[in-house]
Amino acid sequence: MGSEPETETTKELILIIGYLQLEGDVMSKALVVYGTGTAAITAQEIALTLQKQGIEVKVVNAKKEKIQSIAEYDLVVVGSGIQMGRWTGEPEKFLKKFKKDLVTKKVALFVNCGSAAEKLNPDKPEIAANAKRKYLEEKAAKYDLNCVMFGFFGAIYNFNTMSWIMKKGMESERPKLAVSYKETEPGVFDTRDIGEIQKWEQTLAEKFVFP
Ligand SMILES: Cc1cc2nc3c(=O)[nH]c(=O)nc-3n(C[C@H](O)[C@H](O)[C@H](O)COP(=O)(O)O)c2cc1C
Repeated sequence: MGSEPETETTKELILIIGYLQLEGDVMSKALVVYGTGTAAITAQEIALTLQKQGIEVKVVNAKKEKIQSIAEYDLVVVGSGIQMGRWTGEPEKFLKKFKKDLVTKKVALFVNCGSAAEKLNPDKPEIAANAKRKYLEEKAAKYDLNCVMFGFFGAIYNFNTMSWIMKKGMESERPKLAVSYKETEPGVFDTRDIGEIQKWEQTLAEKFVFP
């Protein structure tokens, strides 16, 4: 009967190893970084979807919080609004600061921009195509990123808070915005395709959990 305790011990060991493996899976962590308004909304939505898949997620507004290390994260999602043809400051600085560390991570980039609001320029698909290349593909190439996904999402135009010069430029587009997109509150037009973003988030979560 000397073998019985051993069998029990073996069973216990198997359970412990299984538990540790499970813990290992549960401990998969994602970091979502953004710096401005529309990107913030998208970042929160991405985080929610990842969390629903059991992934631990930290969302950081890089404008407010200094990130010291990304060592603990397996997936890093970085998103920016596009202003004057560029990424906004903080997400770009984040890519620069962690360039070396990001090479070893799974990375997803997303942008929110007016160029993705294709209903404003239905006869000019090249606008979106060029923007996608410039703001996502070229950005990934610049920082040697191993991108699992690129997200090219629409803009939110808030006529209540935009600068007068921006307002002046956008005023002629306002009737088109009103016809083509949802006015979520007076003066705020959301050109994002929420269904498309949700599908993107779901695919990202699946790619991360079952690579
Ligand atoms: C000052 C300003 C400049 C902008 N410039 C561009 C641009 O060059 N290209 C573009 O596609 N969208 C442009 N947009 C639209 C923004 O990309 C859009 O409003 C986006 O939702 C902003 O995201 P954010 O709040 O995260 O920065 C601009 C918006 C603002 C307010």
